[in-house]
Amino acid sequence: MKKYLKYLIVMAVFLAAGCAFNAATADKNFAAADEVTHLRQVITADSSTSRTIMWQADEALKEPLAEYRTDGGEIKTAAAEAADFTVDGRKIYVYTAKLTGLEAGTSYQYRAGYEACRTDWQTMQTASSGDFKALIFPDSQSSDYSGWHKLADTAYANNKDAAFFINMGDLVDNGYDLSQWNAWFSSVEPMIANIPFAPVMGNHETYTLDWQVGYPTPYLTLFNLPANGSENTNQYYSFDYNGVHFTVLNSQTDEMAEFNPNLMAQQLEWLRNDLAATGAKWKVVLMHKDILRYAFTDRPNSFDPATVQFTPWAQQLMPVFDEFNVDAVLTAHLHTYRRRVPLKNFAADSSGTTYILTGVAGSVRYANLWQRNPADAALAPQPEDANYLTLEKTDNALTFKAWLPDGTEFDSVTITKERS
Ligand SMILES: [Fe+2]
Repeated sequence: MKKYLKYLIVMAVFLAAGCAFNAATADKNFAAADEVTHLRQVITADSSTSRTIMWQADEALKEPLAEYRTDGGEIKTAAAEAADFTVDGRKIYVYTAKLTGLEAGTSYQYRAGYEACRTDWQTMQTASSGDFKALIFPDSQSSDYSGWHKLADTAYANNKDAAFFINMGDLVDNGYDLSQWNAWFSSVEPMIANIPFAPVMGNHETYTLDWQVGYPTPYLTLFNLPANGSENTNQYYSFDYNGVHFTVLNSQTDEMAEFNPNLMAQQLEWLRNDLAATGAKWKVVLMHKDILRYAFTDRPNSFDPATVQFTPWAQQLMPVFDEFNVDAVLTAHLHTYRRRVPLKNFAADSSGTTYILTGVAGSVRYANLWQRNPADAALAPQPEDANYLTLEKTDNALTFKAWLPDGTEFDSVTITKERS
């Protein structure tokens, strides 16, 4: 009888605290945190000592927090901050807990919770010095996210040693469609719970439900990214990972013009300061829109396809990439994989920057839409299937490899550098 009385008291405490009692919860001290959805790790400026943990809920949570510990170590707590956005009359609550003061090169466990509810423990690894691998996915926007799900699953299964993953913008087809965000997050689970995610914003993140351009509030709330010292936090940012400095830009200056006509000027000034400040051996820039104009295959073109034409966006940025010796620039948006000859001063130059247009990972395909560009050194097999990339960093080399969904490698480029 005593046993049942204890059970009833525990259940009453859980219910009073707003938690649904679940006997299957791993930790018998807590009820299951059923309100927590899309639990994720998000990249921080320094992954060796910090990590951002985020999740969503349909209701406001009381006492939201993340807990973390080394394997078998003492449990520490980080309170979570709440934010929200409303789409189609529905309010979504987004929680961020920032874990700081972590030990480099260490295995941790973390979980999220509120009141007397907790999720199961998840694994988390901090960065150490040395080699690493990252996964890079092009545009995942889809009408049906099952293909994206399969590609992400396969890429992660084939690269369990990846330290983090990147998505190059246009994560979803419509930035205000919650069903698409839910499909995107579900497709990258459990990868996004296990390793941090570094997002890049694309133009589709700015589209509202009636396909007008809107301020991309859902995207900017769903990903709490390293502060950049400007008022444009979460739009562009940078982070370091074991000797590589990644600078992530917001290429949507046209779409954002009605909200911030000074975005390009502000971002250029920030970019110069960011690249000047880093002492990292390697510099990689990630941005959604590409640098080249591509001629249509079966449509009239306003320029000679035999010439290399740079976009107005690229004409402002490429001199900065040249000045600061950026090693590689990854782009997306055109749904085709093209690696270019190294470019410097708007011309082929073996000492220049490697520009890779990363391809397509979602269901929106532009089969045979673009002509080959004179600057293209390699492209994906035609007509294009989905693809993803890996980045492997060693002491003296950065290697980008491009992969088809069946695990076939179709392109590889290695950038070497002896100096530290
Ligand atoms: Fe795009």
